[in-house]
This record gives sequence, structure tokens and C-alpha cells, in this order.
Amino acid sequence: MADYASVYGQWRNAPEAYWADCARLIDWDVAPEQIFDPSSGPYGAWFSGARLNTSYNCLDRHVKAGHGARTALIWDSPMAGRLEHISYAQALARVEKIAGALKTLGVEKGDRVVVYMPMVPEAAFAMLACARLGAIHSMVFGGFAAPELSARINDARPKVIIAASCGLEPGRVVEYKPILDMAIGLSTHKPAACLIFQREACRADMKPGFDHDFLEAEAAAAPAAPVSVLATDPLYILYTSGTTGRPKGVVRDNGGHAVALTQSIKIVFGVEAGETMWAAADVGWAVGHSYIVYAPLLAGVTAIMYEGKPVGTPDAGAFWRVMEQHGAKILFTAPTALRAIKQQDFDGTLLKKYDLSKMQALFLAGERCDPPTATWIQERLQKPVIDNWWQTETGWPITARFRGLGLTPFKPGSGGRPCPGYDVRAISDAGEVLSPGETGNLAIKLPLPPGCAPTLWENEEGYREAYLKTFPGWYKTGDAGLVDEDGDVWVMGRTDDVINVAGHRLSTGVMEEVLAGHPDIAECAVIARADGVKGEIPFGLVVLKAGVTRDADIIQKELVALVREKIGPVAAFKDALVVPRLPKTRSGKILRATMRKIANGETPAVPATIEDPAVLDQIKDAFAS
Ligand code: COA
Ligand code: AMP
Repeated sequence: MADYASVYGQWRNAPEAYWADCARLIDWDVAPEQIFDPSSGPYGAWFSGARLNTSYNCLDRHVKAGHGARTALIWDSPMAGRLEHISYAQALARVEKIAGALKTLGVEKGDRVVVYMPMVPEAAFAMLACARLGAIHSMVFGGFAAPELSARINDARPKVIIAASCGLEPGRVVEYKPILDMAIGLSTHKPAACLIFQREACRADMKPGFDHDFLEAEAAAAPAAPVSVLATDPLYILYTSGTTGRPKGVVRDNGGHAVALTQSIKIVFGVEAGETMWAAADVGWAVGHSYIVYAPLLAGVTAIMYEGKPVGTPDAGAFWRVMEQHGAKILFTAPTALRAIKQQDFDGTLLKKYDLSKMQALFLAGERCDPPTATWIQERLQKPVIDNWWQTETGWPITARFRGLGLTPFKPGSGGRPCPGYDVRAISDAGEVLSPGETGNLAIKLPLPPGCAPTLWENEEGYREAYLKTFPGWYKTGDAGLVDEDGDVWVMGRTDDVINVAGHRLSTGVMEEVLAGHPDIAECAVIARADGVKGEIPFGLVVLKAGVTRDADIIQKELVALVREKIGPVAAFKDALVVPRLPKTRSGKILRATMRKIANGETPAVPATIEDPAVLDQIKDAFAS
């Protein structure tokens, strides 16, 4: 087995040769001649001029190679009480017809299709059907409310929306169709049609001529052939939280994505074609896009799609049951899921009930894994625990430990070493590269490797502004941390207003905009409070307008309901506190970091620039009461 240092060195010495070699993992219609084109887009483009089809690479080529009977997808849904094994040949047959149904509705290469679906195989097939036509899908996570869905519809301007009638959450059926109808009502852009996947748990009301039954349309359609697209054509847009109210439309291209993901399955995950892997994420997030759908299928691996929770469906042994039952080699999940399991099965009594002899490693991402949780699970499992750091923008790990390159040492709390393709450094605010061990802004030397976002949807200037302007020649990750003497990267938290709630990336700025919209609120701040399971949870501090005498408890309940209505349950916004004033600097900047420390039980130093130190005492008193 090649070792990490030599492969990383190979990439450093000759990056284009490294990626040209990786490109051989993909079936191209026109093979790449130019590996990197520095003149295109905000920082350049990978494999310009080459052509391929991503759904062909995920499905057809495996069937053509004689692997049609191999399982592509295992759908395991404790929520619906269903278990299905879908072979590569069956998946291809469905994707061809769903693509045909989209074609009948007028979807062509370059058109956008918004997909609003829960964890059902049809979500993956819808993505692949878009890819087949060269259409650009944009998945929206089910936990968002209508205004968030509407913002994405307005930005992506889809020709068609594919949605399910409902999602299944413990104890409740989430009806998607009324949310979709409300979102379309709120949008200035209107799609031409909707394809609705009717689930048994709840059948949606259909608007004749506008809503089409997904399964009927699929059955009636002629199979569609894969459309050859440029490597640089967009495969999908995935919206994520930024620092402004407008979500950022992260663009993923076809060629770089296929190459980088296939290579990552080899070197990071160490899984071979025919083996089974499970990413216990949601298809609505980047981890789900990459490691439930695209990467395993590109590599001919069997992927598990799980509609359930780590606890309560039925218990904290659910993950280990799935691993045993399907003989999965690796599990990829978020630390928050482990903390939920740890809380209910600290001694591992449930874990020990299952035969995990086939499981070879646990991958963790989405948020920093606190060292006690990393150590706890490593001791219980006695298998490598691989924390890997990445972002929606990168689409695959920036840092990791490498099952395919000999594992680097386990350091609980560290995200591991940079994947070949990434040169990661900590940089001072003044833009100087810091020495090992010094904390600063984590940045990646340009160009970003294949698979990372080349731009934001129809917003190249926004991309430059958000990621490239602060440190010329570098991509600003928005994370703070350090690189140690061994080259291991430690990610300590965000430098902006993004918070990570149960592995979900959210913006406190957007929540502040919602609170500020309440008629009784004069000003507000949303800060992150530490939470034993979710990592962070948002907490609002609000100042009422002069003369407002309504009961503070009622206003607080209205604020919680407002965030749920405008952003969605995923925001997990459950608490707000009315305070007389917010602490500010003399220049008027709200001291959020100081309040955050108070909220988390710390005693922060009083900032020298504070306008009125007495306000901090008022905040402390408010928390104490
Ligand atoms: N559709 C509709 N609603 C959803 C939803 C979906 N797809 N996903 C979550 N929600 C709702 C939940 O029902 C909950 O609603 P409630 O306020 O009425 O209870 C709310 O959003 C918050 O959900 P969640 O953050 O999932 O909290 P939880 O208490 O239900 O579960 C965990 C906690 C830790 C078990 C759960 O968050 C989890 O499994 N997290 C892992 C996340 C993950 O894998 N992220 C991938 C990043 S790599
Ligand atoms: P998302 O775009 O939703 O994947 O969220 C990306 C953000 O999650 C990163 O910028 C980090 O702040 C955080 N994150 C993801 N993975 C890790 C990790 N392994 N360690 C620390 N932080 C992480």
C-alpha cells in the first residue's frame, strides 16, 4: 500500500500529473487533455474541454461491465418499516425512466430542477436522472420551512420541482406538499410543473395540469439516454448558510467532482467496488450528496440509505443493527449522532449486542468531534475513528486519516492531515502564514482541487468576495484553527456567524433578521450556546421597543414560532431572553463573543472598547435569573 507521505508528496511535486492519473478512474466521452485551466472562473477550472456523463459513470458503466446484479442501494427505513435492495441494473432502469419523465416535462441540459425529498431511494434517482440529462439539481433539506425553500426556488429558477408528499419524523408526518405549495406561492419564479412522489403515510392533493404523479410519469416515460456534458458544466447547486440572508448557491461541476470523489473512496475511505458503506447523513446535505449517492455509485460500491435516527428508531443500537445487518465496512456519521448514542448507551450495552466484525472504521464529519466523544467511541468500537474536515463548498474531505494510504496517528480533536490536493495553512489576519502550532484563519492555497466549488450560482463576484478576497492566493475556509508540527490540522470553530447545530450549518445572522422582523423587537443578537448533544444551539437575546408592555414569555414563544415558520424546525431555535440592553463597543458593534461566553457559564474579560460595562452585568443577571 502506498503511504500517505509519498502520495501527498507526489501531488505536491506534480499536481496536474497526479490529477491526470486520477482522471483515469472515470469513463470519459472526450478524455481530458488540459488538466487545469488557470484562466477560467474565479481561480481556474479542472478538465476543461473534457466530456462525460455522471449518471453513466454511476450506473451504466457498472452494468455494462457485468455488475448489473450487484446491489447499488440498500434502503433501510425504520420510519416506514421498509427494507429494499436495489441492484445497479434496477437503479439504471428507474433513472432512465425518471429522466424520460423529466424530458417529457421539457427539462433539458442546463435547466435546473429543485428536489425536495426525504430519505427515499427516489431522491437519489431524481438526482441521477437530472445528471443523466445534464440538468442541474438543487436538493433542499426537508427540515427547512417554506420561505427558505422559496429563496432557493427564486435563486435557482427551476423548470421542474420534484417533491415527495411527506417526510417521516419520529412521532409526526411532515407534509411536504403544503410547504411546497406555500413556497411556490411566495416565489417570484414559478416552475412549469411538479413531479410528486406519493408516499403511503400521506397522499398529497394534486393541482391538475401542474402536479404530476412521479410514479405514473415514470411508468409512462421512454428511457432517456445519457447526455454528454462538459466536465466544467454544473452537476448541481447546493445552498448553504453564508453570512448574509441570501443562501449561497454552491456549484459542483461534473468532471472534477467525479474524479475527486472516486479517488477519495480509494484513498480516504478504502472501500472497494462490491463492498458496502454507509453514510448516515441526509441526502439534503453535502455529505449525503457525496457519500450516500455519488461517490459510492461512481466507485461501484453498495450504499446504504437510512431513513431513521441514531436514537429512538427504535433505540440507541440502531446504527450498530444497520452495520451488522448489511455487513457494511465503514460508517460515516456526525459527532452529534454519536453524542446522542453516548447519552443513552454510555456503557455500549446495545452496541455489544451486534456483530460488528465486518465494520472496519468510523468516519466523522460535519462539526468538530470533541475529544471525549472521539475517545469514548474508539474505546467501545476498537476500530479506527477518522475525523475528517470538510465543507459544502469542498464536497469531499479537506483533511482526514487515510484508510487507503496507511492510517496517520489518532489524535482526538484533530481533523487529520490534508488530503492530496489541499495545501492547508493557518494564516494571521494580516495574511502571513503562521508557524506550526499557531492559531489563525485556516486557508487553502489556490487552486482548490477538483470537486470543490468552482463558483457560486450566477454569483462569481459573491464567490470572490466570500472566499478569495481576504487572503489573495488563498481560499478562506471561514474556520479558525492550527496546523501542528506533524502536519495535523485542528479546526476550532468558525470565524463568521455560522453555527453548527446537530451537524447542520446555520447562520445566526439569518435568525437575527427573523427576530428583528417581530413588531415588538428593537434589536437582537443570536449567539451559540454549547449543547451536550447538538454541539451548539442558537439562543436569542432581544431588546423590546420602548413602550412595549406585553408579557415577555408570550413574546419569547412568538419568537420561537417565528423562526420555525421562517427558517424551519432544523434551526432548533427554542430560547430567547428579553434583556434591557445589548452590550456594544463604542463604535456600536454588538459584543456577541462576550455574551456567548457568559451564556456558556464563562467569565469573560471586559473588552476595553465596551461602551458601558454595566450592560454586561445586566446580561449576567438575566442569565442568572
Ligand atoms: N424534515 C423535517 N423535519 C426535520 C427533518 C427533516 N428532514 N430533520 C429534522 N427535522 C426536524 C426534527 O423533527 C426536529 O423537529 P422538532 O423541533 O419538532 O423536534 C427539528 O427538525 C430538529 O431536528 P434535529 O436537529 O435532527 O434534532 P432531533 O432532536 O430530532 O435529533 C439528533 C437529534 C442528534 C439525533 C439528530 O440531529 C441527528 O441525527 N443528527 C445527525 C445530523 C447529520 O447526520 N448531519 C449530517 C452532517 S455530516
Ligand atoms: P457544511 O458546509 O454544512 O459541511 O459545514 C462546514 C463546516 O462544518 C466547516 O466549515 C466546519 O466549521 C464544520 N466542520 C465540518 N467538519 C468538521 C470537522 N471534522 N472538524 C471540525 N469542524 C468541521
